[in-house]
Amino acid sequence: MSALTINPLREGIANRLSPEPCTLVIFGATGDLTHRKLIPALYNLAAEGALPPAITIIGFARREKTSEQFRTELETATRKFSRTPVNDDLWKSFASSVFYHQSPFDDAEGYKTLAREMEEADRKRGTGGNRLYYLAVAPDQFPVILQHLRESGLSTATPGSWARVIVEKPFGKDLKTAQALNGLVSEVFPERDTYRIDHYLGKETAQNIMVMRFANSIFESLWDSSHISHVQITAVEPLGVEGRAGYYDTSGAMRDMVQNHLLQLLTLTAMEPPTSLSADAIRDEKVKVLRSLRPLTGKDVFDHVVRAQYSAGLINGQPVPGYREADGVPKESATETYVAMHVTIDNWRWAGVPFFIRTAKRMPKGGTEIAITFKSVPRVLFNQSGHGIDENVLVIRIQPDEGVSLRMSAKMPGSSLRIEPVKMDFHYGTSFGKATPEAYERLLLDAMSGDATLFARRDEVEEAWAFVDGIEEAWKTRTDDLAFYDAGSWGPAAADELAARHGVTWRRM
Ligand code: BG6
Repeated sequence: MSALTINPLREGIANRLSPEPCTLVIFGATGDLTHRKLIPALYNLAAEGALPPAITIIGFARREKTSEQFRTELETATRKFSRTPVNDDLWKSFASSVFYHQSPFDDAEGYKTLAREMEEADRKRGTGGNRLYYLAVAPDQFPVILQHLRESGLSTATPGSWARVIVEKPFGKDLKTAQALNGLVSEVFPERDTYRIDHYLGKETAQNIMVMRFANSIFESLWDSSHISHVQITAVEPLGVEGRAGYYDTSGAMRDMVQNHLLQLLTLTAMEPPTSLSADAIRDEKVKVLRSLRPLTGKDVFDHVVRAQYSAGLINGQPVPGYREADGVPKESATETYVAMHVTIDNWRWAGVPFFIRTAKRMPKGGTEIAITFKSVPRVLFNQSGHGIDENVLVIRIQPDEGVSLRMSAKMPGSSLRIEPVKMDFHYGTSFGKATPEAYERLLLDAMSGDATLFARRDEVEEAWAFVDGIEEAWKTRTDDLAFYDAGSWGPAAADELAARHGVTWRRM
């Protein structure tokens, strides 16, 4: 097998990473995201030698603590959440680049001292004036932090260096709030320095969708309405609301998963080949898919979208309470924890091909996949009755067990003619003998390298909200369509009926 070589002069996804020395300032450094994801990701990058040696990480948060205490807390978290075991020496060396900066987010003085600390890091550690600000805070904190970054001059890079911002989801809660937030960010950082995280784009197999489509001649020539009968995109998990009721109950599965992760996977699956591998060429194509989505509004919403909420049930044989019984969830909550929808892409390539999207909490199993079902073979020869032969299905498994499989028909050995489905299966783990990195590893490295390909651009986020807003608006007019499903079941009958109306059954994961 020959290794893939990529022209290093090209930008975008092909730009093999050369992260530059910088100071990474994490706002919200005492929060869950920092402990569970960001620091373990940075540690793993450091352990692989992927981080620039001069990197300096400053945790910015309100709570009183010393850098030493901060490092100890991070070590405990990293030992728990890191994808590789923590090595004592490597941790020590990594931790020596981590500092704590205590300050309220609205105190100008705190930003002045931060500036001094960063200048010191430039002098002593060689961070070159480069700044990467990570807003790992609730969205209501964005305005105050951005305003202070601007007023303190910290958002402006010195000549020859850069200043970038990484913004975590939720990026608004509808089109209006997303536009307001985009407006606010753009007053402080230009679009090219704004990195909106969608961690699904950092998942290895999500990146592989493009490679699979455009580096293999066999798939792309079949990738259209002449050959594909329908597409199912699924992201389900056994977890419930997990102590996040405050956020989740105002969000629901549509805003939490569909607006961002699932529509992103849809765009990668459906987009036209980009003119180059640059971040903008790819995002231009993705945004065209979002613009081609047939809007769902008013009464149509109830014909094409099923929403549901989990009731008490069993997960892995253990009883779990219903959504409304979870801490912090109102007893009458009509928030959906399940969405199944039929989506139409009104463009030449996809005319007549239904796309189905499904996401849910408290499912029997977790997994994310894109399943492309090809048209049946003609009703001649082996398929005369039209019922005997399963269609070819190409499944791109985003997680777990990342890989790709293709269902085909084959003759069972023996003297009689019996045709059975078989699978050709590629597993990342066994083919490359290498664990796949966490999404945050890739994304942090890309932001340090100035590669925005795997981050959502302003227009993508806004187009996705415009689509979702139509559905949310209709949902406000009634709630009698909200179905219920037992935790640990595969969802409500209404979702099966939706699929059945198009001659489709949902895939079991
Ligand atoms: C997050 C959502 O963005 O994605 C969560 O807020 C969800 O509700 C999570 O559980 C799923 O991510 P992953 O990587 O575990 O599939």
